[in-house]
Amino acid sequence: MSATPVKTIGVIGGGQLGRMFALDAKRMGYDVITLDPQERSPTGQVADEQIVAAYDDMAAIEELGRRSDVVTYEFENVAIASVEHLEKLGHRVCPSSSVLRVTQDRILEKRFVRDCGIPTAMFEAIESAGDLARAAETVGFPAVLKTVRGGYDGKGQWRVGSIEEAEAALAAAKGAALIFERFVPFERELSVVATRSASDDVVTYPAVENEHDAGILAMTLAPARVADAVCERAQAMAATIGRRLGIVGTYCVEFFLAAGDELLVNEIAPRPHNSGHFSIDVTPCSQYEQHVRAICDLPLSPPRMLSNAIMMNVLGDGRGDHLAGIPELLSDSSIELHLYGKRHAVARRKMGHFTMLVDGPIDDAAIARARTALKKLGWE
Ligand SMILES: Nc1ncnc2c1ncn2[C@@H]1O[C@H](COP(=O)(O)OP(=O)(O)O)[C@@H](O)[C@H]1O
Ligand SMILES: [Mg+2]
Repeated sequence: MSATPVKTIGVIGGGQLGRMFALDAKRMGYDVITLDPQERSPTGQVADEQIVAAYDDMAAIEELGRRSDVVTYEFENVAIASVEHLEKLGHRVCPSSSVLRVTQDRILEKRFVRDCGIPTAMFEAIESAGDLARAAETVGFPAVLKTVRGGYDGKGQWRVGSIEEAEAALAAAKGAALIFERFVPFERELSVVATRSASDDVVTYPAVENEHDAGILAMTLAPARVADAVCERAQAMAATIGRRLGIVGTYCVEFFLAAGDELLVNEIAPRPHNSGHFSIDVTPCSQYEQHVRAICDLPLSPPRMLSNAIMMNVLGDGRGDHLAGIPELLSDSSIELHLYGKRHAVARRKMGHFTMLVDGPIDDAAIARARTALKKLGWE
């Protein structure tokens, strides 16, 4: 039995991940409809059409389902009720609501990872103020308190070094359910972008290394500067997680690399990921094309690195909406620039990124070159 061939893909969410997905889907001949409350969203600018509505507007969600052969989403905080509603109406949604339920909840997610036999940072659930003392005793300090749901780019997180600071964080969280997580003194942060198909084929890109600035990804080194064995172990863990989740589509597993090359899983993103942008420029089949392939029941493409790369995020700083320095940046022919079509460069907003192709290994000189290149850009 083969499913009806896909002609139209629906995308809930209109951000940059949906935009880069839509660009690949369009190249492959699909029609794309996106749903986002903000008119002319980054995805809406390149899709065939945008339904302008809230993510939990059920009439609009129904319309998206009716007009699409498969529906996907580009951010994981999409209302689970919307995805369940589409499934109940018989529409195909990838990844399914069962995947979303686990990855939207940091406690369920970490329990799931541990059930896969894969380590995470030590953690305890904080459901009410009474749980704090016990959690502090079991997990210890320093620690990170995070909202169980809805966090991204480091939002909804408090680093705490004492019970007093933990109490202050609890008050700041205003009653939201929290996870009390041991702070991991990691040597590096790694991630593996992977894609799983409905026929249980899994492909993984090499592990990459991520540098964050106050919780937001700043730089990705592809591949990570780790031994092959570490990279392969991370890829194998990501594949196990994808299979056990039963996810269909591209996803990302974030890791802490701790002392003694120990790998701890931090979180799972059930969608293409910021740390996989390099795949557009230095692999024949990007993370977005793999996602198209997976949700349209096409064969996946085993990743091949044609070059090493460094990806730098370009964030807004609130000083202006015009990006100066592009000619200077592009005078370096190893750089590919990607801008997301966002009108206002609000402070710390992800406005674009560039990929610098690196001949030979990723060393300090290559990283310095990428940092210098980023400084050529400025908002005015
Ligand atoms: N337990 C931890 N130990 C050390 N650093 C952490 C810990 N949790 C989060 N961080 C830092 O904060 C960043 C964002 O946290 P993460 O859990 O990935 O949330 P988000 O959903 O915002 O990406 C991580 O990439 C890491 O740099
Ligand atoms: Mg993260």
